[in-house]
Amino acid sequence: MCGNMPECTAILPVHVTAYLQDPGMMADFCIEKTSTPTSPERRAELLKDPKFGRVFTDHMVVIRYKEGQGWHDAKVTPRRPLEIDPASTVLHYGQEIFEGMKAYRGSDGEIRLFRPEANAERFATSARRLAMAELPEDLFLGAIEALLKVDHDWIPTNRDQSLYLRPLMISNEVFLGVKRADEYLFVLLASPVGAYFSAGCVPVWVSENYTRAAIGGTGEAKCGGNYASSLVPQQEAASKGCSQVLFLDARERRYIDEMGGMNVMFVRKDGSVVTPPLNGAILRGITRDSLLKLGRSMGITMSEEPIAIDDVFAGAASGEFVEAFACGTAAVVSPIGILRRESGEVRFGDGENAGPVALRLKEALTSLQRGEAEDSFGWVRRVSL
Ligand SMILES: Cc1ncc(COP(=O)(O)O)c(C=O)c1O
Repeated sequence: MCGNMPECTAILPVHVTAYLQDPGMMADFCIEKTSTPTSPERRAELLKDPKFGRVFTDHMVVIRYKEGQGWHDAKVTPRRPLEIDPASTVLHYGQEIFEGMKAYRGSDGEIRLFRPEANAERFATSARRLAMAELPEDLFLGAIEALLKVDHDWIPTNRDQSLYLRPLMISNEVFLGVKRADEYLFVLLASPVGAYFSAGCVPVWVSENYTRAAIGGTGEAKCGGNYASSLVPQQEAASKGCSQVLFLDARERRYIDEMGGMNVMFVRKDGSVVTPPLNGAILRGITRDSLLKLGRSMGITMSEEPIAIDDVFAGAASGEFVEAFACGTAAVVSPIGILRRESGEVRFGDGENAGPVALRLKEALTSLQRGEAEDSFGWVRRVSL
């Protein structure tokens, strides 16, 4: 037992520098380990084919925030349901944000994170947009370190798998009234995952009836509401035989924004790659940014330009656009085979296999993430346990 938390069995001093500079904030994570850990045999069974988002590790991190008190009560606890008052503000007004990132185990056995500071920064940006408390970067990174210290056996060794990390924050004040909440709860979950899409190309539906985000809205924030509103267009896509949705700009419904949970890139026949510019409505994808920089370092012309959907349909039909792919932490680089809309469809390449540019970019990115390529960008963080 330690601290003033009766269930706490150990204190884990996690290196959280900025945090330590502020004497008003705690420096340690209290550890409460599960009394019923998953057996190594069962874990090995689960890791054989975890799919995506169905298997969870034994523990989670919880940190609380209260106006006047700041962030406090940081714990690693057994993964269990949260107890929430039915009047908790998140259940009514949807102040909720999240992140998605991965821990990789390389063939050398080392554990690596890819640009975790960028996720911390985006989490803070999302918090500001939703008027929520900001979690300091060091605390965000410290939470990841604390969870990996306890649950690192869950990081798969298979090259196509990783440990998906899901930080999230909800407002948690007991109050009925639309205002900025005074209390927040940060939670970090971990889930061993395989590929987000099964092999092959993804058929994508162009949403002409629904938009995802308008300029001035919450498109740049990673908040639950953006995903809730994408579910009807997602259902529409499924009814058209497509597994993903491509959204157009909300003003003219003419230019491509992004997909429901990933950014999008197109390859011209000269091998150059183009993606829509960040316009305030598109999520600032870390994979998108990494591919732009990585591609340029490989000699590929990578540009950010408005892309009219009609030009893509015409260009795919004429052979000007030869590849299209989605990119994101979950999807990595996933080729788009078919783009379909009410008035017809176009194919990229043979419609079934990834093209050479997507394959090159994917290989370059994944070798970096797994520590197989030199990290000239300084993006990879080794986790020492
Ligand atoms: C709407 C949306 N766009 C793009 C992305 C890709 O972002 P990232 O590459 O940081 O995972 C995601 C995934 O987080 C997303 O949800």
